Amino acid sequence: MTDRYAVLGHPISHSKSPLIHRQFAEQTGQDISYEAIDAPLDGFAAMIERLRGEGYRGCNVTVPFKFEAFKLCAQLTGRAQAAQAVNTLFFRDGKILGDNTDGAGLVTDIEQNLGFRLLFKKVLLMGAGGAAHGVIWQLFNAGASIVVVNRTPEKAQKMVEDFASYGTVFASSYEGLAGKQFDVVVNATSSSLSDALPPLPPGIFSANSLAYDMMYGRDTPFLKFAREQGAAKLSDGLGMLVEQAAEAFCKWREVRPETAPVLAALRQG
Ligand code: ATR
Repeated sequence: MTDRYAVLGHPISHSKSPLIHRQFAEQTGQDISYEAIDAPLDGFAAMIERLRGEGYRGCNVTVPFKFEAFKLCAQLTGRAQAAQAVNTLFFRDGKILGDNTDGAGLVTDIEQNLGFRLLFKKVLLMGAGGAAHGVIWQLFNAGASIVVVNRTPEKAQKMVEDFASYGTVFASSYEGLAGKQFDVVVNATSSSLSDALPPLPPGIFSANSLAYDMMYGRDTPFLKFAREQGAAKLSDGLGMLVEQAAEAFCKWREVRPETAPVLAALRQG
């Protein structure tokens, strides 16, 4: 019997997740189906109930439903609890269980695909919204020390207070970054969506630094700035997308797919 999965979001038509999961399934010989479902803004919980009723085994959740998904779960992994958001649901024994694989996706992409170790590295995490919350715990787990910078500094401060028990973390305003340098700068803001550049001061990248934009599919103002500022390595978020999917697939199916061929195929378009 084919096990059914889906990704729920709004909008969802652009999602590459069905393509990625179908390639994982083919590669590992898993008998699953995976489709994209556009859930109405006020109908996420009802859609989840419908899928459970139809015997689906789980689903991925994307913008804007990750916080709502979190609230529906009877049980959470530690990393989902820390993120206060869920991107992977399991429908098991009549219960909804939740995990968050976004941070693992980012860290695996940085460490394994880009070959950049995070242990004791200084990471600047830009943004204090859902995307930043989703990855900060895993950055701590990889041994990085973190500065959170946000346009609205109070939100960065609140996030730092919430995560202070996990590791070394400070909050900053963009002006407060003047004269500081980082090994890794992660853009977890939504600035790229409006082709805006967060107000980073010049000289922010240390030698051999990595500039990582969680957005994918275009040369963002942040990546252009990083190139001009001499960042040693640049990356968009396509690898993170594939790696978070692999982590979810692995938790659902208990088999880890190869990500390199899937990422290469997506890069070729
Ligand atoms: P997401 O789920 O993508 O994180 P979000 O929760 O709305 O979306 O958060 C968006 C983040 O991007 C916020 O940290 C926001 O900063 P504010 O808290 O000050 O709003 C940040 N952001 C959006 N546009 C930005 C810009 N042009 N420059 C800097 N930060 C920006």
